[in-house]
Amino acid sequence: MSLSTASGATVQSPTRKVPAAKIQFLPEDRAWIADRIQEVLATGQLTLGKYGTEFEQKFAQFCGVQHAIAVNSGTSSLEIILRTIGVEEKDVLVPTNTFFATAAAVVHAGGRPVLVDMDPESFGIRPEDLEKKLTSNTAAVIVAHIGGIVSRRLPDLQEWAAQKRISLIEDAAHAHGSSYKGVRAGAFGIAGSFSFYPTKVMTAGEGGMIVTNDARIADEARIYRDQGKASFTVNAHVRMGYNWRMSEPHAIIGLKHLERLPAMISDRQRIAALYARELLALKGLTTVTVPTEGVCNYYKYLVVLNERQDRKTLKTLLREQYGVSLAGEVYEEPLHKQPVFVKYVSGPLPMAEDYCARHLCLPIFSGMEEAEARHVVEALKTVIG
Ligand SMILES: Cc1ncc(COP(=O)(O)O)c(C=O)c1O
Repeated sequence: MSLSTASGATVQSPTRKVPAAKIQFLPEDRAWIADRIQEVLATGQLTLGKYGTEFEQKFAQFCGVQHAIAVNSGTSSLEIILRTIGVEEKDVLVPTNTFFATAAAVVHAGGRPVLVDMDPESFGIRPEDLEKKLTSNTAAVIVAHIGGIVSRRLPDLQEWAAQKRISLIEDAAHAHGSSYKGVRAGAFGIAGSFSFYPTKVMTAGEGGMIVTNDARIADEARIYRDQGKASFTVNAHVRMGYNWRMSEPHAIIGLKHLERLPAMISDRQRIAALYARELLALKGLTTVTVPTEGVCNYYKYLVVLNERQDRKTLKTLLREQYGVSLAGEVYEEPLHKQPVFVKYVSGPLPMAEDYCARHLCLPIFSGMEEAEARHVVEALKTVIG
């Protein structure tokens, strides 16, 4: 197959390869983790132990909240939060451009997701559409900080949710360390949910975390994550819980990555600053910017193509001719286009359809070299112009 560039120039096969993402564990960190895993293997204290507790305490402190509850995924942390507030037979407002799990958790908790359009400025939920979808049956709204961007409209949303007496929940799976006006992601809502899936800004191998300032939600979450038991040592099952526990080896990995998180975020911010400078001159795309008083962890570096093009062909061209692999979109298709959620669609969601089709996620990861980012910029200049 012959692929041509926007300018029609012939290109050599790529000598440099830039991956979409990389997961970084420094050699000394791997050794630290291995030592502690040896320890828990020797003691047999493999779940709900001291490392899980330490991870929870340090994560809560990092987010600026009072409680954190470690679980085995970001999907279960969302479902647990929803169960603690009670959404059975109720509606939950969910952005349509988020991951499957955000809406799926609502269904698993017995609620009905109501899909809401997106705000192109932040890729977050669109406040104008929220008002239209609110009914007397609405129990909650979930906001997702897509790509790590906390929308500047979040404080208004907080106020709106309080006025309407509905719970604001944050799906902060993308947003470890992101903030707006000094408030960290996870600390805006009645509870926040994080994921430690391997490709996230920090990982625990797998895992999730619930953060909250509400002691009742924290207590309930601990009950739900351990088979609905009243406590670890008591076999009275008081809630319809599940095995949502985090193991000690996962907590050990998470603890080390949490310690590295500020440095890993700075690495990403350095690359993002280079992209922002160098891509300014490109006519074919616009970068998505972070609010003035916001801090972004750059889980994704988002750009929007000014005109709709065949993204698949563009990605193939970048990979095959320039060795540049783009990361997965957020999201390739909005949820209302996913077969399992079609039944929850109530009207058009045009912004999400347009922006989901037109955006790209450039390679960005901790440990990325500036030369790699410059190579990405050069490839984009030739292909998109
Ligand atoms: C926005 C969003 N919500 C929820 C999840 C679910 O997290 P996990 O994969 O840890 O279950 C993910 C990630 O995968 C996500 O990106």
